[in-house]
Amino acid sequence: MATAAALTGPPGIGLRTFRALARDELAFFIDIPRRYGDLARFRLGPYVWYVVNDPTLVEDVLVHDAAGYTKGLALQRARLLLGDGLITSEDPLHARQRRLAAPAFSPRRIAGYGATMTAAATAAGDRWDDGATVDVARDMTRLTLEIVMTALFGADVDAATSDRVGRSLTDVLEAFDLLVTNPLGPVVQHVPTRRVRRFRAARAELDAFIARVAAARRHDAATRDDLLSAYLTARDGAPGDDGGMSDALLRDELMTLILAGHETTTNWLTWTWLALAENRAVEARVHEELARELGDGPVTVEDLPRLRYSAAVLEEALRLYPPVWGIGRRARDDRVLGGHHVPAGSIVTLCQYTVQRDPRWWPDAERFEPERWLGSRDPSRPRGAFFPFADGPRSCLGARFARTEALLALATLARRFRLRRATSGPVAFDAKITLRPRGGLPMRVEARG
Ligand code: HEM
Repeated sequence: MATAAALTGPPGIGLRTFRALARDELAFFIDIPRRYGDLARFRLGPYVWYVVNDPTLVEDVLVHDAAGYTKGLALQRARLLLGDGLITSEDPLHARQRRLAAPAFSPRRIAGYGATMTAAATAAGDRWDDGATVDVARDMTRLTLEIVMTALFGADVDAATSDRVGRSLTDVLEAFDLLVTNPLGPVVQHVPTRRVRRFRAARAELDAFIARVAAARRHDAATRDDLLSAYLTARDGAPGDDGGMSDALLRDELMTLILAGHETTTNWLTWTWLALAENRAVEARVHEELARELGDGPVTVEDLPRLRYSAAVLEEALRLYPPVWGIGRRARDDRVLGGHHVPAGSIVTLCQYTVQRDPRWWPDAERFEPERWLGSRDPSRPRGAFFPFADGPRSCLGARFARTEALLALATLARRFRLRRATSGPVAFDAKITLRPRGGLPMRVEARG
């Protein structure tokens, strides 16, 4: 077996690495494989850090050796907001909670949210005027928040409440980025700066909101069809465990779903609008497909299997602009990765952004080319070359929900509108927890005749 010493990475004990990470994290992770190859190793203060750019090793970490790793540093810090929710918890709690949550995300349940998703997208379109300039990132945030709130809580949450929750979420997220991505986050969270105070106040508001809706629902959950009811009625069938979720766990799971369920899909849709504006032939094909395949009424989940090209457009946007652009893990104990010894506690980063733009797996990798998703899958492309929703036991529970939502929203809006860049020059990335356009994405709305 090769030793860890055979691997290279940025030299030193990490001061320069720390600065490079703080300056531009995405640029740092793009640079690493270029300089040090598919598996790099370096020091950052007390941590030994590995960066993986080889799809086979991605699959090893996420699937075959998943039990050997815990969540990474950022998600460990995210417990501050998400507690023991599905994204942050570890086994055995995670496995139990995933079993409890899975029925809420069954294909039948998700199909049941279709009408809500289309209605929210229709309402978003009603807010767009021909010729207006809008911030697409902001409008997609409002849309996906409305969808996840209605799917979670049913019709009990009116638009005003949803807006208030949206404002609290904005405050929470603003500080969350700092607390989670900043290595000093665990210290900073105890310093009562204005931002930290706002974070705490907004978190308390969200907690109170969740507690109120959950308490009101406990008595009629069995007769309702939203995610909250599915969670409230879930019972673990495992031997020795027939209990459901405690109030505290329910809070953590709901907070996790609100957060996981909208920020990612927001970015997915936002990047898709940009890609359509910049690839007119692709846009024209989407319009043709929608005209050919849709009837006069609202788009339904039954229509979706026919929208193959539009679905391919969304997959291609996921490839080039992965909303979750990097995944962190820590070695639970000593591991072997690619024949190298990985000491317990090491950090391992897998970067969707670089792997999904690697020309070895993606010919003409930088080109937006939905056609690559239309034929049968290229058998020579490794499974780990595309992992926007991660993979294995910690893969995204909401992937089907997100795919349904994104396609319904895209079809509903692209039928009525095309969007054009309102600014020129490249759109800069703001790569924090998710991959966003820096400063939003102003676009001009054109109603289609
Ligand atoms: C484009 C949209 C989305 C993307 C790209 C995405 C991506 C991901 C990724 C990469 C993970 C794994 C994170 C890690 O292991 O470190 C994850 C986990 C998760 N996501 Fe998503 N997600 C999306 C939408 C959603 C939606 C809409 C929901 C819920 C309504 C959701 C709920 C979850 C949950 C609960 C987990 C934790 C699963 C577990 O560990 O058991 N996600 N997501």
